[in-house]
Amino acid sequence: MKRSVILNVNRIARTVEVEPRSLLVHVLRDDLNLTGTHIGCDTSQCGACTVLIDGQAVKSCTQLAVQVEGMDITTIEGLAPSGALHPMQNAFWEKHGLQCGFCTPGMIMTAVDFLGSNPDPTDDEIRHAIEGNYCRCTGYQNIVLAIRTAAEVMRAQSAAGQPTSEPAGESTQRSPLPAAEPAGAGV
Ligand code: FES
Ligand code: FES
Repeated sequence: MKRSVILNVNRIARTVEVEPRSLLVHVLRDDLNLTGTHIGCDTSQCGACTVLIDGQAVKSCTQLAVQVEGMDITTIEGLAPSGALHPMQNAFWEKHGLQCGFCTPGMIMTAVDFLGSNPDPTDDEIRHAIEGNYCRCTGYQNIVLAIRTAAEVMRAQSAAGQPTSEPAGESTQRSPLPAAEPAGAGV
């Protein structure tokens, strides 16, 4: 039997009817149409479904929707609420940290959480941080470069007193990343 829950997603309270067994990733994609969160496995290993829950990167296929009622959920769509890319999104764009883009939303959410606790990481620390996110295309080199670049930008913004969720500069107003768009069939 379905029950009504209120999910705080990307700063908006959304009321949805869910089965107690409904996974958060399915509710995000199928009920809230937030298809930037991808499904890449059925074993909780790929990380494509990663979102932020109360600021922490969590694989949304490991959570029941009813478990996260009242918590703050941020999906890849929530990183650019006004259309201006988050510095992490911008860095993936500029440093070619993606090819097919399937892993990218989850990779970005993991990286955003990671830089929150380690704003000046080494490459080894970056590689360790994303070990739960699989990429089939890039070989990871440009992903690491993108995260390192985002860290530099975010540190500079922080030093200048700018909010990191609203990147400064005229070059940040762009069309969405390919990875933030609907995943399409078969995902
Ligand atoms: S879909 Fe959640 S870890 Fe793969
Ligand atoms: S860019 Fe294709 S899976 Fe990572």
